Amino acid sequence: MSDVLCIYYSRSGNTKKAMEEVAEALGAELVQLHDSGPRRNALLCGLDAMKKTVRPVRKFQTERPLEDYRLVIVGSPVWAGRCAPVVRSFLKEYGKKLRSVAYLVTRGTENKNEEVYGQMDQYVTVPHCAAGSLRTGSVGYTFWQEEFLRQVQEILGADA
Ligand SMILES: Cc1cc2nc3c(=O)[nH]c(=O)nc-3n(C[C@H](O)[C@H](O)[C@H](O)COP(=O)(O)O)c2cc1C
Repeated sequence: MSDVLCIYYSRSGNTKKAMEEVAEALGAELVQLHDSGPRRNALLCGLDAMKKTVRPVRKFQTERPLEDYRLVIVGSPVWAGRCAPVVRSFLKEYGKKLRSVAYLVTRGTENKNEEVYGQMDQYVTVPHCAAGSLRTGSVGYTFWQEEFLRQVQEILGADA
C-alpha cells in the first residue's frame, strides 16, 4: 500500500494521462475525482471555475485515510486561470487533512498559469512542496514532467 496518493480531476483526458504517468513512476495510488453533475458545456465550466461556491465532489475511495498519506499530489486542468471546480471542492472539503501536497496542472496555452498553485494553497494547512504545469503536445512536456518527478522524489527521499 503506497503512502503517496495521486488524486485528480480530468474532463478531456490530459490530466488523467499526466497523473497516470506520475503515479506509475512513483508507485503511487491513483484516484480520479468526479463531478456531481455533467460538464458538457466548456463555457459553463469556465464560468463555474470563476465562482468560489462549488458543488460537492462526488464520493471517492482511497486505500488509507487522507491524513495518513506522506504526500498527496493533486492534479487539475486549468480552467479560466483557476483549478477545476471539482478540485477546488475537494481541497475545500479535505485540504486541511492533507499533511503535504504537490500540484500538477495541465493547461492549453503557453502561459504556465502558476498563480493557480497559490489559489489551491488557500485550502491546505502547509503550502505545496512541489508543483508542475504541463501542456499536452508541447515540446517541453516530458522535460517538465520529469522535472516535477525529480522535485517529488527529492522531497520523498529527504523525508524518508
Ligand atoms: C472551461 C475551460 C477553461 C480553460 N481555461 C484555460 C486557461 O485559462 N488557461 C489555459 O492554459 N488553458 C485553459 N483550458 C485548457 C485546459 O486547461 C487544458 O486543455 C487541459 O489540459 C484539459 O485537461 P483535461 O483534459 O484533463 O480536462 C481550458 C479548458 C476548458 C475546458
